[in-house]
Amino acid sequence: MAQNKDFIFADSMNDLPEKVSFAWKSPSNIALVKYWGKTDPQIPKNASISFTLSESYTKTTAHFTKKKQSGKSEISVTLGGEKMDSFVPKIAQFLERINVYTPYLSNYHVEIITENSFPHSSGIASSASGMSALALCVMSLEKVLKPSLSASFFKQKASFLARLGSGSACRSIEGELVVWGKHENVVGSSDLLGIKFSEKIDPVFHHYQDSILLIDKGEKVVSSTVGHNLMIDHPFAEQRFEQANQNLARLMSTLKNGDLDTFMSIVESEALTLHAMMLTSNPYFILMKPNTLKVIEKIWNYRKETGVPVCFTLDAGANVHVLYPKKWKAEVDQFIQSELVKYCQNNHVIQDQSGMGAVQLA
Ligand code: PMV
Repeated sequence: MAQNKDFIFADSMNDLPEKVSFAWKSPSNIALVKYWGKTDPQIPKNASISFTLSESYTKTTAHFTKKKQSGKSEISVTLGGEKMDSFVPKIAQFLERINVYTPYLSNYHVEIITENSFPHSSGIASSASGMSALALCVMSLEKVLKPSLSASFFKQKASFLARLGSGSACRSIEGELVVWGKHENVVGSSDLLGIKFSEKIDPVFHHYQDSILLIDKGEKVVSSTVGHNLMIDHPFAEQRFEQANQNLARLMSTLKNGDLDTFMSIVESEALTLHAMMLTSNPYFILMKPNTLKVIEKIWNYRKETGVPVCFTLDAGANVHVLYPKKWKAEVDQFIQSELVKYCQNNHVIQDQSGMGAVQLA
């Protein structure tokens, strides 16, 4: 099983290149069984599983320039063509955190040029796609220093590093489904990194559709750090962590046998439980908006009336992810256009689907 020490870079740093650049495109992901609650450093309290997305992604180019003299690394970040000084402390903290595993980075200034496929203030978190893209750029540098790195170690360490930037980012390296967190039914699962769910899944789950309804594009009300901390001393914490692990076991069976009814009930219950945790924490939060509830009710009515297997999930916010098999795309598109789009800010819907993970661009 993977251990922290496996990821410490202990090779020679004598021949560091003067200037190298790498670019990766890395997607966001949507959890089916949610991760909510952690211990330091980003160790999840329960196992989670997500679909890797394909249309919601970050493209990041990282330029590593060797320092002329020792001292602090200079970091600059440009997002969508705009200099983002406000992102620098977060990146600096990330690089500091991974330094024990990537000591070669101390020799470099880092210039990050990044863009998201989704609008910045869409309520879609860019931390999963952004941190995984950056972790992959770092691994590309490591590969130059150690060409014998295997492809599987490359991915594992990229996931390991991404996790230290933002927990769920470790689930964005590969696709179509990724498990993160130690679970007795998943061989090789680990709290330290995400692993591809490698069992044969029912074909109904390939290219699973995710139409993301942007109900509220505002800034997150509860930051991820604050949110996870709400689970410390939460009255229902232990039951919740246990339930999530049970739900993961049940969900894996449905992924293999194609039982969509059970799949949908687990996924919806997970979303509502995530929000129930926030409703019952101290301090408490309501992250759903009236339109979130209207959309959920419409989905339930539509499913009951038509039998179309469409369900929803939620992140820690008001937006609704409408999930359904690809073969129902035409019907669900029409349903969304006629009944749901009016509840979205500026009628904004992002059409996404499960995908295969990150790709190197340069
Ligand atoms: O990766 P973080 O720390 O932003 O936490 C993500 C938490 C949820 O999106 C709410 C659930 C999940 O498993 O992705």
